[in-house]
Amino acid sequence: MPIYPDSFKTEVAEKNSIEDVISEYVVLSKRSGTNRFGLCPFHNEKTPSFSVSPSRQFFHCFGCGKGGDVVTFIMEIEGLTYPEALEFLARRANIPIPVADNDAETKKRARMYALNKDAARYFYEKLRSPEGEAGRRYIASRKISAATATNFGLGYAPDSWTSLYDAMRAKGYSELEMLDADLIRKGKNGGFYDTFRNRLVFPVIDTTGKVIGFSGRILGDGEPKYLNTKETLVFNKGRNLFGLNLAKKSKAGYIILVEGNVDVVSLHQAGFDSAVASLGTSFTDEQARLISRYTDEVVLAYDSDGAGLKAAQRGIGILEKLNVKVKVLRWEGAKDPDDFIKLKGPGAFRNLIENSESQIDYRLLNIKNKYDLSIAEQKVDYLKECTRLVAEFPGNVERQVYAIRVAEIAGVGQEAVIKEVEDQRKRLLRGARARTEREIRPEKLAQPAERDLRYDNPESAVAEEGVVRLLFLEPSLAGKTREKLESDDFTSEALKHLYTVILSRIDEHRALSLSLLGDELSGAEMSLLVNVISKPETLSSASDTIDDYILKIKERNGRDSSFSDLKGLADKMKNKGKGYK
Ligand code: UTP
Ligand code: MN
Repeated sequence: MPIYPDSFKTEVAEKNSIEDVISEYVVLSKRSGTNRFGLCPFHNEKTPSFSVSPSRQFFHCFGCGKGGDVVTFIMEIEGLTYPEALEFLARRANIPIPVADNDAETKKRARMYALNKDAARYFYEKLRSPEGEAGRRYIASRKISAATATNFGLGYAPDSWTSLYDAMRAKGYSELEMLDADLIRKGKNGGFYDTFRNRLVFPVIDTTGKVIGFSGRILGDGEPKYLNTKETLVFNKGRNLFGLNLAKKSKAGYIILVEGNVDVVSLHQAGFDSAVASLGTSFTDEQARLISRYTDEVVLAYDSDGAGLKAAQRGIGILEKLNVKVKVLRWEGAKDPDDFIKLKGPGAFRNLIENSESQIDYRLLNIKNKYDLSIAEQKVDYLKECTRLVAEFPGNVERQVYAIRVAEIAGVGQEAVIKEVEDQRKRLLRGARARTEREIRPEKLAQPAERDLRYDNPESAVAEEGVVRLLFLEPSLAGKTREKLESDDFTSEALKHLYTVILSRIDEHRALSLSLLGDELSGAEMSLLVNVISKPETLSSASDTIDDYILKIKERNGRDSSFSDLKGLADKMKNKGKGYK
């Protein structure tokens, strides 16, 4: 990872006002008080609990607990690493990016891309060599043409323990480089063997054309059916989609999302050149965001089994949040799109797309299928469930249109259904508002949103948070804090890390601001820090307050016997009328 100087980070933060940047993604309210509010882009919500503080240049969601500065926001929303997000914002504000080309991690990445490309070429050639006979036979049995195989760069991993290993060694790659790229794995006896053996190899290529990993399918039946590159420096399954490198060039105007690699290949071959698959993970927010860069309409063509149906429902939810229109394909008599095309041909698949339903119709239909509308009670239940769903649509017209449709299907009067929908809507909004208010109550915030960071000792953690907050706001307190408090006094690992990072920056006489801490803190730690520093604190008697916090931590830990008079201490804190409520 390139390491950028503080001056660059500061300039990036200064020239990218958090209000402006976030406004490009989220509709923000006019200022009310010091903050602006909007619907959180990181979790599903109906009333705004996502706040942006222009004066302090951070965002914070009371609902999901995410928070950070402008760089953190871009990392989260664009799915970028810290340096990538810095570069993204530098470009946005026309700030020259310092060259960091001799940096170790950049070099490592570049080597891994080169190795992946060489490995892909090796597999590709093997498929077309005498050794590739088995692979070619399998491809033919799946009706994949030679031209399609070339288009996807398909390859074959020979049935041998070290053939790739030997070939890449000969090209000068080290064992460590191959291990890091997950192209070889270590055996029990300490030797190495090729990860992919006797498999059809699908290279996974990102939207910039780089080979980032591989997916290997067994020839025929057997377990595991697919073997995928594990997480590497350049490969993250949840952030990529198989086939997007080709689909992004399609003129179709929509992207077809399927489950399997073979479905993608088969659809492209049949002329549907905008098909992508989610690499064997369940569809992620990042994948949805990636798709939304290229299209605003997705056709979901998941397998026709129960799992596919569930996955489709999930996908709809994720895509809807990003304002991507979703159509769902349904068919019978075929397992997946590949199967469907083979049985019924491309024309039939085209018909499916053209006659497919919007996701709303799809959901209403799913509800209808659960009930027998000729039975009065069931009809009532059907209406209840549908009106609840329709009430969630934000648009008035949309609600009306669908209320009428529901009324028609059930054979009841429109007026009654419309009224029921609007009543439900009011109830929904009231409930959401109450929920948000509850979530903003401080005791709800006492635990970090991230599970891994939960406090074992919440009472001490409250004081630990106080120390972190005061040091951040008032670095001159560092000297005396260090005298009285050791980092091991912290009960929360996360707060301890924040404490040591802040202290060491103060020691090095480096400036302290959120925008300078991005590469030292994880996303969850950044959220925690924002959470901590946005709690109210009076600075007028900061020095006394930090003493109280320190006492409380020491006393909780039972380390400092001179403060064993708990009651006295409690009274002392009460009398001061501050500390943490
Ligand atoms: P499928 O089993 O539907 O695969 O799994 P497929 O590509 O359609 O293959 P065929 O048509 O049965 O030959 C869907 C996707 O899930 C991932 C792969 O990415 C696959 O394409 N998967 C599946 C795995 O990662 N591991 C597995 O063992 C199985
Ligand atoms: Mn399949």
